Amino acid sequence: MSPGNAARQALPVRLYGTVRIPPELRCVVHGEPFALQGGFANSQEVEHATALSCPSGCSVPVVRGIPRFVPSEGYTAAFGWQWKRFRRSQLDSYSGTTISRDRLTRCLGGSLDVVRGKAVLEAGCGAGRFTEILLDAGARVLAADLSSAVEANYANRGSARGYFICQADVCDLPVAPRSFDVVLCLGVVQHTPDPEKTIAALAGYVKPGGLIAIDHYARDYPATWSRRAIRALLLRLRHDQARQIALGITRTLLPIHRALWHRRRGFGRLRRYLGRLSPVVDYYDAYPELRPELLVEWALLDTHDTLTDQYKHLRNPDEIRATLDALGLSNVEVCAAGNGVEARARGATDEARRDNGDSPLALTHVTDAA
Ligand SMILES: C[S@@+](CC[C@H](N)C(=O)[O-])C[C@H]1O[C@@H](n2cnc3c(N)ncnc32)[C@H](O)[C@@H]1O
Ligand SMILES: [Zn+2]
Repeated sequence: MSPGNAARQALPVRLYGTVRIPPELRCVVHGEPFALQGGFANSQEVEHATALSCPSGCSVPVVRGIPRFVPSEGYTAAFGWQWKRFRRSQLDSYSGTTISRDRLTRCLGGSLDVVRGKAVLEAGCGAGRFTEILLDAGARVLAADLSSAVEANYANRGSARGYFICQADVCDLPVAPRSFDVVLCLGVVQHTPDPEKTIAALAGYVKPGGLIAIDHYARDYPATWSRRAIRALLLRLRHDQARQIALGITRTLLPIHRALWHRRRGFGRLRRYLGRLSPVVDYYDAYPELRPELLVEWALLDTHDTLTDQYKHLRNPDEIRATLDALGLSNVEVCAAGNGVEARARGATDEARRDNGDSPLALTHVTDAA
């Protein structure tokens, strides 16, 4: 079997598609655009290629239809498993809600119109709760994630027009500098090794005057002692063991959460105790509109998320603002909302970049969630 056939046969979901190389894609070593190698003659579709090649000889494998710019998912393996296991749970198209759409709209400043017809970079795209909304809003999306969540994202949206996905590190993305109208990174920065470095990298992908929107856990993130203790233990285990424990705890304790929620009148104090004692993340109060089976899926997903993430940094709004200001971004808006801190700004002009030395930040932050 030829490598092209092997790659096609291994595709998990789609045997056709329209994924093409976007104009912003560049070799990280030489800064040159890529061409497709292998597969059907004359095909322009990435899933029919075995590799992407740059004119100076770099080759990037295309595995199961997705270009892989990193050799492994590294510290994000738990996320990879999580998003493949709960591939559709948080998609509005699956939940029948507007939870993801509302969050995205708020983070973009109040309207999805800002992405229509625009080149959007979605860094740390996960399974694609925001990818599908961006595409449906008329954006051309380059989605990237370090983990194998790219396979879940591709399975969800792989045949959409204007969609390209790759496995790559947000700090080293294979894209031309300052080439995107909109750079979006939600639910990600706090999970990277160095949030300030990650924000600086993101700021380098947005056009002068373009929009960058990010969020971050805040210092009041509910890292209760039970979550801290269990997470510290799970991070020492193999990931398959860790996830069994995280899911087992959720399956055991969630019925108690649900029982107290159903009888919440007069059970307020008990619920507060439970919130402090139990590591389980539940959504009975936050999203009662979710179907009962989705309330269970979201609890399994987010309890696993909060107990197995390798990095969990915390920042307050002033710290995020200082980081964005120091990068020479303009129109910086930061507020306490959503998962903690939400921020957006406009891409730095060449002049502002020069004033800031065009260099990564020298800011340091000390504390993080244990
Ligand atoms: C909590 S998930 C959020 C996913 C998606 N944005 C969402 O909100 O559903 C965090 C994601 O960031 C990704 N991630 C973490 N570090 C990354 C890095 N250095 N480069 C790219 N993606 C990264 C993880 O693999 C994971 O899919
Ligand atoms: Zn190259």
